[in-house]
Amino acid sequence: MEKIEHIGIAVKDLESSNQLFEKLLGNPHYKIEEVASEGVKTSFFRSGPNKIELLEATHPDSPIAKFIEKKGEGIHHIAFAVDDIFSEITRLKSEGFIVLNETPKKGADNKLVAFLHPKSTNGVLVELCQDIH
Ligand code: CO
Repeated sequence: MEKIEHIGIAVKDLESSNQLFEKLLGNPHYKIEEVASEGVKTSFFRSGPNKIELLEATHPDSPIAKFIEKKGEGIHHIAFAVDDIFSEITRLKSEGFIVLNETPKKGADNKLVAFLHPKSTNGVLVELCQDIH
């Protein structure tokens, strides 16, 4: 894995959280994107070289709605940038990690993504993401 690509934060209301994070970081979000297949609406902020992704559920069955129901708002996942998501998935599986989707899917921000189950990573939902060129 190369670096932390972004940190994902589950929020109840994207509009008010966008305002909050704009105040916190001192700059506005640079994009909003809905990922219909995941039931989320996202916004992205830059903080120096780092990125923050806010995620709001678009329907009650969304993984984000379920997360907030169980744990409340807060840090939802850490995303790592990878060069070759397919070989990373193979490597991590062989190390015993539980890969939630063995076939990478199209995520927000023009990425191919795959997730590791938190029960194999000390409770942290890990996202692997690779730029789609
Ligand atoms: Co993410």
